[in-house]
Amino acid sequence: VLNVRYDQPGHEISPILWGIFFEEINHAGDGGLYAELIKNRALSPKRHGANLDGYAVVRSDGVDGRIYISHDHPLNSVLTSSLRLNVDSDVAAGQRIGVSNNGYYGIPIRPDYTSYRVSFYAKAIGFSGPLTVQIESTDGRVVFATAQVPQITEEFQKYEVTLTPTPDMIQNPSLDNLFTISANGPLSANSSIFFNVMSLFPPTYKNRPNGLRIDLAQKLVDAKPSFFRFPGGNFLEGNTIEERFIWEETIGDNAQRPGHMGCWGYYSTDGLGLLEYLEFAEDLNAEIILGVFAGYALNGDSVPPEEMGPFVESALNEIEYIIGNTSTTWGARRAADGHPEPFPLTYVEIGNEDWFSSDYYIRYPIFYDAIRARYPELQIIATQDVNTRPIPIRDDHFYSDFGWFPDNHRYYDTAPRNGSKIFVGEYATRDNAHPQPEANTAAAIDDAAFMTGMERNSDIVIMACYAPLFGHLNDLVWKPDGIYYNGVQSFATPAWWVQHLFSVIRGDTYIPTDSDANVGLPQEKIFHVASRKSDTNTLILKIVNTNTEDIMIDTVSLTGISTTQGGTMTVLSGGQWDQNDLENPLRISPRSQAFNVTSNSFTYNAPAFSLTIIEIQL
Ligand code: AHR
Repeated sequence: VLNVRYDQPGHEISPILWGIFFEEINHAGDGGLYAELIKNRALSPKRHGANLDGYAVVRSDGVDGRIYISHDHPLNSVLTSSLRLNVDSDVAAGQRIGVSNNGYYGIPIRPDYTSYRVSFYAKAIGFSGPLTVQIESTDGRVVFATAQVPQITEEFQKYEVTLTPTPDMIQNPSLDNLFTISANGPLSANSSIFFNVMSLFPPTYKNRPNGLRIDLAQKLVDAKPSFFRFPGGNFLEGNTIEERFIWEETIGDNAQRPGHMGCWGYYSTDGLGLLEYLEFAEDLNAEIILGVFAGYALNGDSVPPEEMGPFVESALNEIEYIIGNTSTTWGARRAADGHPEPFPLTYVEIGNEDWFSSDYYIRYPIFYDAIRARYPELQIIATQDVNTRPIPIRDDHFYSDFGWFPDNHRYYDTAPRNGSKIFVGEYATRDNAHPQPEANTAAAIDDAAFMTGMERNSDIVIMACYAPLFGHLNDLVWKPDGIYYNGVQSFATPAWWVQHLFSVIRGDTYIPTDSDANVGLPQEKIFHVASRKSDTNTLILKIVNTNTEDIMIDTVSLTGISTTQGGTMTVLSGGQWDQNDLENPLRISPRSQAFNVTSNSFTYNAPAFSLTIIEIQL
């Protein structure tokens, strides 16, 4: 029996309980949410002295040429090198020589990519143009779109063209393509062309020039997350102090962003930088959870306390960039970058997972005091319990194998109510026994069991977000993840559907039940939480079955209610190891149907491995 005590409403459910955490991992940003299609866009010394990853020479038979990094022809004081194409033989009329980029595992052609914005910096010696810009198949046989830059000069200039494939060219999605810029003959040997910041953007979310990939952004928007935590995670900290996320290098013109080596095995362009994060939070209408670098890097190095000054100043400046008005230095910079209105900011997190360090108890107070002194209205989030300053909110992370989350759905039931609030800033069931991508139904349902406990305890657990959010199928350094994709397709994993459903169907008031631990048999296989959505007078009942068999709940009774108007029932379920994939992206996805029961008691057969959300109209 599951007795729902509608007549005894409990605490308010945190209005910002469910949100998202974004980190540059698995090509979540570059090659993922950030819509730029060119890999290794900015050739800067921060990229291990600049490298040619992604680039190659394109040339007609019989034509010779090579590309290399030139340190003698800097683009500017930030990008102090460039890509040099040396023409080593004469190029006859009808022949070409140029440079190609193969993007993030291919340049995508897809029906919704109706036009592409191209920009690049170029200059030449012994050549003045024209340059032909194309998207073409890797074997060169199909040219999807072409455009020309009529003339270039001996000084670096930015060139912009639009590539518009005809609709019939983009009907069949493909990735086996290149972006090319070439000089068509006649052309003489020994001429050189220099490039930097080649860029190719498809249509973007809200049409922003430095914008986001629409299908991925839309999946996040559709989940209505209440907050947006960024930029990490380990990515915030970097493998070394030098390789941390330096927010000042992620703003402004892309030609002024050097990028940096991220901690997940690849370079970040930082084209998805602080302002882009903030604007997306604004699009999502989500609270910003800003992680600030707190002096600890993944190799174990800590900035000594007496040298912390510049790091604290940087965090204060970052906050000023976000909330300062335009009379402040960094508020003015934000306005110059295109966003005069300050962003709302309530939460600042000091570091990430500092339980790996031994000196958070020293570093935390330094940031706490400085931020509180200048911005007393901000709420500080700590990543570890220390007693050197108050901890208004603590960020807990859980990555566990099967069983842990259901077994621990009561984790916060007995947590002190007079101490820190809790932000569960990262969690996921990790199936260590199965091959990737491992984002199967069973793992998602284990997550859901724990989420019932977080919702039940959301007087103290005020925010929670799954991690990692994104995974490029060609570079899964961490799994499972919420949403998978390649350049032409994307799909939600069962884990993401669980997140989506808990977020979009939410009550505002917790409704206790007689059996808030469990109902049904076998023990510890059914988990549930009830809530009320007051504005629509709806009772919401979330039921999770982690069992390998269906479980019949022979009576759900609603105390304090005599009749209902029926409602809707949404079910996510599937085979234990079932996953979504490119061939069947919606194999495990929610199904909604009318819930026709109008009495105050009913039976419910919870399918094996399922999350059911019943919304009952009162
Ligand atoms: O989500 C992946 C990583 O897990 C995060 O970067 C880090 O915070 C945690 O250890």
